Formats: sequence, C-alpha cells, structure tokens
Amino acid sequence: MTPRWTPASWRSKPVSQMPTDYPDATALQSAEEQLRAYPPLVFAGEARRLTSRLAEVEAGRAFLLQGGDCAESFKEFSTDNIRDTFRLILQMAVVLTFAGGRPVVKVGRIAGQFAKPRSSSVEQIGDVELPSYRGDIVNGMAFEADERIPDPNRLLKAYHQSSATLNLLRSFAEGGFADLHNIHRWTLNRATEGGYAARYRELTDKIGESLDFMRAVGVTPESHPDLSRVEFFTSHEALLLNVEEALTRPDPGTGEWFDTSAHMVWIGERTRQLDGAHIEFVRGIRNPVGLKCGPTLESDDLLALIDTLNPANEPGRLTLIGRFGADKAADRLPALMAATKREGKRVAWSIDPMHGNTQKAHNGFKTRPFERILAEVRSFIDVAEAEGVHPGGVHLEMTGQDVTECIGGAQALTEDDLSSRYHTHCDPRLNADQALELAFLVAERLKSARTKRSEAA
Ligand code: PEP
Ligand code: CO
Repeated sequence: MTPRWTPASWRSKPVSQMPTDYPDATALQSAEEQLRAYPPLVFAGEARRLTSRLAEVEAGRAFLLQGGDCAESFKEFSTDNIRDTFRLILQMAVVLTFAGGRPVVKVGRIAGQFAKPRSSSVEQIGDVELPSYRGDIVNGMAFEADERIPDPNRLLKAYHQSSATLNLLRSFAEGGFADLHNIHRWTLNRATEGGYAARYRELTDKIGESLDFMRAVGVTPESHPDLSRVEFFTSHEALLLNVEEALTRPDPGTGEWFDTSAHMVWIGERTRQLDGAHIEFVRGIRNPVGLKCGPTLESDDLLALIDTLNPANEPGRLTLIGRFGADKAADRLPALMAATKREGKRVAWSIDPMHGNTQKAHNGFKTRPFERILAEVRSFIDVAEAEGVHPGGVHLEMTGQDVTECIGGAQALTEDDLSSRYHTHCDPRLNADQALELAFLVAERLKSARTKRSEAA
C-alpha cells in the first residue's frame, strides 16, 4: 500500500537540489510560516481547467506552447519584460494556430520560475570556491561570498514578484490587450522587426480580414466575449519544496490538494528519483505535472514514474518534456514514445529543444545554435509521426527582449555578437525574432504533418 501523503510527507525522503546552508534555521521557518499565510497565487479550478486543456493536447486536438526565461530574476523584473514575453507567446500562438488549425494552449514558465538545479554545489573561479548560484529565490548571482549565502527573505520577495507578475498577466489576458482585434498593435515592439516580421504582418492582415468579415455577420467581441481575451496559464519547476508545500492548499469544494504557486509544476531531470522528495510531493497534488525526460532516461524508469505520478492514467495530468539534443533525439526518443504508446499511457508528449543543445562559445558564453534547436523540434515531430504519437507541444526558453544569447536565425547572430546583450541569469534564451521565426518554421512542419495525415485518412 502507498504510504499516506501529506503536503509535508516529502520531508522524510531524500531531498536533492535544495539549499542546506541557510545560516539561520529560525529565519527560514519564519519565512515559510509567512508564505503559509499568504493568499494562493492560482485557484484549483484554473489548474483543473489546464488539465482538461492538456487532455486535448494528449488527444491531438490542441498544441501546447510553453515558454519563458530559464530563470526569472529580481533585476529583470519590469512591466515591459512581462508584457513583451506575454506578447511574444501570443504572437507565436497566432502563427501556430493558423498553421495547425487547432487551439494552442498557452503556458508561461513564469511568475515562479526562480530556483535552478545545479550540476555542482560549488563554483570555482581561479582559486576561489563559493557555493553555486541557485536562482534569485535562494542567493545572489554575483561571485561574492556574501551574495552566495542563502537568504530566507528572498523566498518572500519571489512570492511578491510572482504575485505582481500574475496580476499583470491576468490583466493582459482578460483586460483587452489580448483582444484579437488588437493583433496589429502587438507587432509594435522593436524586437520583432527582423526577418519574420513581414510574414507575421501578412498573417495578421489575413486574420484582420477574417475578423472584419465576422464583424459584418454579427460576430463581435460584444456578442462573443471570448474574442477579446485569452486563456493563459503559468508553470515552473517545483524545486524548493518548502515553498511549494507552504502554498499547497486543499480545494474547499473537493478537499483535493492543489499547489497554488502555479497552474502546472514540473519535475526536473535531477530531482526525478522515484523514492525522492520531489516525486513524493508532486504525486499528492492535483495540478497538471510536467516531467523532464533527458537522454539518460530509460523506458522502464519512465513507465514507473508515470505510474507513480498518474496512477489513474488520467489524460492531461502528465506532460512529458523531452530534451535530448538535436543529435540524440532520434536515438533516445523512439523507445520512450513506443513504451508509452504500447502501455497505453495517457500522457502528452512535448519537446524542449533548448537544454540538449547548449554549448560553450569560443569567448566562454553559454549559447545554443538556432539550427540545432529547430533540428530537435523537427526530429521530435518525425519520431512522433513514426511512432503514432501526437507531437503535442514545445517548451522554449525565450524572452520578448532583443537579447543576443542564442546564435543563428534569420538575424544570423554569431558568437562574437553574444557579448552585446547577454542578460540571462541562467541558460541562453531565444530573442523575440528568433522565437517568432521558430514558430513559423515549426508551424510549417506541423502543417505538412497534418496534410500527410489527412491525405492518408
Ligand atoms: C531548466 O529547465 O531550465 C534547466 C536548467 O534544467 P536542468 O537544470 O534540469 O537541465
Ligand atoms: Co534552462
């Protein structure tokens, strides 16, 4: 029999990737107490709605677009940044919807994506060794001893930033900004003036014409309020279980537990031990869950994780997020997809083409080539087609800002360009131009998959 779950039952399991060096345990407890008293950031009903949207993805009737910074930071927190990322996700969703002919489920990995897993708990520069940076919710990025001391006040600051971010996102989603009739105005950011801006404008002209036609036959935002708002969800990696626990609340209607820090939470590649704390925590909450699946994951381990995280085999509960690298996807992915298909597991398959394609440039910057990112998405769609699985979605690390962190794309950014606007607090992100270009190229590939399917039918 499975032992009883509580929001705190993870505490009796082996914990990985959480900081253990808070100098003041009482201050940490007090921050956790405060979080426990703070309002939920999302509601159970919203998380349930995302589960039902992801069930559509699992069934091949919708496509999941997930994206945001690798790590949110206190420094990059601004209205403009949030608006630009939100707008970029909407723009990409328009492109993908138009080509794919099916709804796009929009999830920002935002408003809580602060904590980062690290491959080493220390960082060495020259002969100085300091604790690693673990994200702004834990310690500071500067390579200074004081900065690297975990500070419990950061947990509260991250909560407040998440809350303000969500508040703004909700206003953008509901308050008119996302109205399709404003679609032309979404193009007015400088960053999307690159190679694909003209194609985007062509597309929005077409949509504008369709809206004019609909208005003429009486379909207006007044008669159909859904035309003037979008559904937007949030996700992040549930890494700091003390924070997630403090925000986990019973749904008054059903008594089921929901982690109210985000609609969807992820389990990381380094925290997916079957008997570990992270799996223990996530198995008991009712939010939809994302599971990173990297090149070292074997089919049997994946199936065991699926059984633990989704014992009722409920569609929409579990989304798998592949991340293999362009050169490994065709090798590693088929067996995993075949296993979930063979065993009748109701999981949505998506791809994160970012994390397996990270490399070091000659000048020391971590970067990712656009071509390899695109190649991994293409490989994902090819494998899914061959295995008879729906290529359900993508997760991208991206920003609406005009940064220079990934190389390639229509702008042809080179390694020498990286130093000009490299702002990420963790992994390199696609900039707005690159992300929009990727959306067009992925949309084309999805469209050809769709045409092939309907010809075969
Ligand atoms: C991430 O998901 O952004 C990330 C850094 O992942 P990982 O450390 O699990 O590769
Ligand atoms: Co990352």
